[in-house]
Amino acid sequence: MYYKPDQLIISDTSEQLFLDSAKNIVEYANQCIKKNGVFNMVLAGGSTPETLYRTLSHKPLAEQIPWSYWHFYFGDERMVAHDHTDSNYAMARRSLFDPASIPEQNIHPIPTDRETPQECATLYEQRLANIPSQDLVLLGIGQDGHTASLFPDTDILNEKQKNVAAVFVKKLNTWRISLTYPYINQCQRVMILSKGGDKSAIVKKILQENSPDLYPVTKIRPAGQLIWHLDKDAYQACE
Ligand code: 6PG
Repeated sequence: MYYKPDQLIISDTSEQLFLDSAKNIVEYANQCIKKNGVFNMVLAGGSTPETLYRTLSHKPLAEQIPWSYWHFYFGDERMVAHDHTDSNYAMARRSLFDPASIPEQNIHPIPTDRETPQECATLYEQRLANIPSQDLVLLGIGQDGHTASLFPDTDILNEKQKNVAAVFVKKLNTWRISLTYPYINQCQRVMILSKGGDKSAIVKKILQENSPDLYPVTKIRPAGQLIWHLDKDAYQACE
């Protein structure tokens, strides 16, 4: 049984991937704003999305976006200060929030300043209480098939109740706070964005091998569209 996203979009180059995915998101956001008067988006961490955020927050796209209707949440966060080099919030701040002058009240970071990661997770869960279903969750894929901080062989994969949980990632020797499957899978749309030859092996394993459920990302099944957006290098092993 192969794993099939609802939409699999392959862009010729990584530059084109960021342009195509940015336009895709803006179009969808405008539909959500027209329908609901707001666009709620969960941001991915890591390094890949930074260029997407810059594409959104700079000319020409930035001028076409009604930013006051966009609200930003986070799919996961490293248990570090928000000004730490590893912080997903810091990456979004420099690539998106500051360049686009996003209103502070539209930015909803995962807190990392409580005593324990568990307290931070509980606090974020409370803050998400009035957003039971995000319009869009942006996610990446790790070479081990993780997404957000849903890493292989971690307890968070079995979380069925909580929408946000703390997870110790042994191989990184770090605590993280992450949205869980229950929360992500009740959201309207998920876009999984990945690029580069170093992801081609995991992409092939997931899309073309018979045991995709070995990889956490394959259990992401939103209420609405599941879109995979790759560049050619990430897809090359599938061709
Ligand atoms: C994080 C992300 C993580 C990321 C993947 C892919 O906090 O690191 O949430 O899930 O999306 O590790 O990272 P790259 O896009 O940098 O390869």
